Amino acid sequence: MVKLAVRKLPGAAGCEIEGLDLRWLDDSAFDTIEMALHEHLVAILPGQSIGPKSFLGLAQRFGTPEPHIIDQFHHKVDPNILILSNRVDEKGEPLGLADGGTYFHTDYSYLPTPARCTLLYAQEIPKGGAGTTFANQRQAYEDLPDATKEQIDGLVCRHHYGNRDNLDEASRTAASKLNDAQKTKMDWVRHPLVRRHPHTGKKSLYAVSGSSFGVEGMGDNEGRALLDDIKAHATQEKYRATPSYKPGDVIIWDNCSLLHAAPLIEASQHRTLWRITVKEQGPTV
Ligand SMILES: [Fe+2]
Repeated sequence: MVKLAVRKLPGAAGCEIEGLDLRWLDDSAFDTIEMALHEHLVAILPGQSIGPKSFLGLAQRFGTPEPHIIDQFHHKVDPNILILSNRVDEKGEPLGLADGGTYFHTDYSYLPTPARCTLLYAQEIPKGGAGTTFANQRQAYEDLPDATKEQIDGLVCRHHYGNRDNLDEASRTAASKLNDAQKTKMDWVRHPLVRRHPHTGKKSLYAVSGSSFGVEGMGDNEGRALLDDIKAHATQEKYRATPSYKPGDVIIWDNCSLLHAAPLIEASQHRTLWRITVKEQGPTV
């Protein structure tokens, strides 16, 4: 058995697991990945050489993947893989979803059963790197005054597909545009403002940026003001980490305990990733 080394990365979240070859993943190695993910919230598995089926196999160890609503960019081998890319073909047509999630959000919080974790497999990355920025919502919750914790524990938020801070579909920092058929599949859903992690039991602020538009039992302005206040606390620099990754790296993160934001890439630079999102076992409320 190969000895795996879990190395904590600088910043508020993240670790790198060295000595792992995903072509030969066994139960023991997966246990190491899962434990590291629960502790550090982001796990980078550097230098992999796998195809779409092996990537899917890794994701399925965490649970059931869910194809993204934006089905134009599903991988031709398996629809569970979404291609994120700013490349275009010779006619100028996009080859992947560009500018996806360039604001703080957590994946699938607009669905009743949201995402447990997301996996990226980096295909090409701009020179100098272009990492995802994460914000540790477990730490942000723990640091709140007790009176604030009492105020917000038990509150339920109203969520919908979109970025409440930017609803301009032409903007690069709005939620990715849906077509009319995709929009009809989206509905309002409910999630606790403070979630207990299904595996570790630890509490986190949940999706206070992105899809949260209101708080049940509060007026629109009051609920939004509360969410804005908590977002400002939860996205401070001290809770952030932007681990760098390179082509061949697999990146996994915990969606219950993190917000994340993708970088905005210059058109002259190319960034292509495969993404799989694995759902939780059931609704949060
Ligand atoms: Fe995302």
